[in-house]
Amino acid sequence: MIKVGLVGYGKAGQAVAQVLRADPRFELCWIARKSAQQAATLPETDIPIVSLGAADWGPWLDAHPVDALVDFSQAESLHAYGEALAQRQLMLVSAISAYSPEDLNYAHKLGESTRVMCSPNITVGINFLIMAGKLLRKIAPFADVEILEQHFREKPEVSGTARKIAQSLEVQDERITSLRLGGIVGHHEVIFGFPYQTVRLIHNSIERRAFGTGAAFALSQLAECEPGFYTFEDLMTRLVRRELLTGGVDVA
Ligand SMILES: NC(=O)c1ccc[n+]([C@@H]2O[C@H](COP(=O)([O-])OP(=O)(O)OC[C@H]3O[C@@H](n4cnc5c(N)ncnc54)[C@H](OP(=O)(O)O)[C@@H]3O)[C@@H](O)[C@H]2O)c1
Repeated sequence: MIKVGLVGYGKAGQAVAQVLRADPRFELCWIARKSAQQAATLPETDIPIVSLGAADWGPWLDAHPVDALVDFSQAESLHAYGEALAQRQLMLVSAISAYSPEDLNYAHKLGESTRVMCSPNITVGINFLIMAGKLLRKIAPFADVEILEQHFREKPEVSGTARKIAQSLEVQDERITSLRLGGIVGHHEVIFGFPYQTVRLIHNSIERRAFGTGAAFALSQLAECEPGFYTFEDLMTRLVRRELLTGGVDVA
């Protein structure tokens, strides 16, 4: 069982906590957030919720040991716990979307002594869609590619995930069509137009617990890796490669 400390207990962190608590592979040991009352615990449990300054992390981790941190807080947290994490060689699954180049440099540095995964998009589904799309692009570089994204009416900007998909498939952002409709949580679709057939890869977001499924996948894969810095794609590619080599997927 992997013992986990969760950093951040906002909209995403709360959903992630639910998934980790329901999964027998993990034990959620404590939660750190910015503002926590003294002696706070998760309702109906004895899981502590704490607020930790940079100097508190080392003593806290020694008194409340875990195997991994899962971070759904803010970029600054990385610098608060980074040294204590590396010294104790704990795994890190960080989902922070807004890391600066300096933050990412620091995360890479931590990867010299422990296992670190950073991903601005941590859902299994979108990462699988990107991987499958890249593969199809290699197989059929002649196919037309269009990206369709649909979100709730109030979302003003083009989806960052759609831009990431476009970038990974090496197509221009002009190939993205955005629709704003009612309360759609998130729909991403890549359409490959062949001369005599059409392939559609579709991902629909249902709720935030998908972030927890992604964090759980990353934890389980990272636990099998050597120390280093990884992306979600690295972990997924590693698994797919192993499956292909061991015959888990029949490619004959
Ligand atoms: N990679 C992905 O796919 C993905 C998906 C969703 C979210 N995210 C990322 O996850 C983060 C949280 O998103 P959200 O929507 O849950 O935001 P949110 O609702 O604003 O929650 C942020 C949480 O972080 C805590 N926090 C802030 N600074 C902290 C610190 N120094 N130490 C410990 N905890 C701290 C806050 O504590 P308080 O509750 O005390 O204020 C709060 O619980 C964002 O960085 C976002 O980019 C990534």
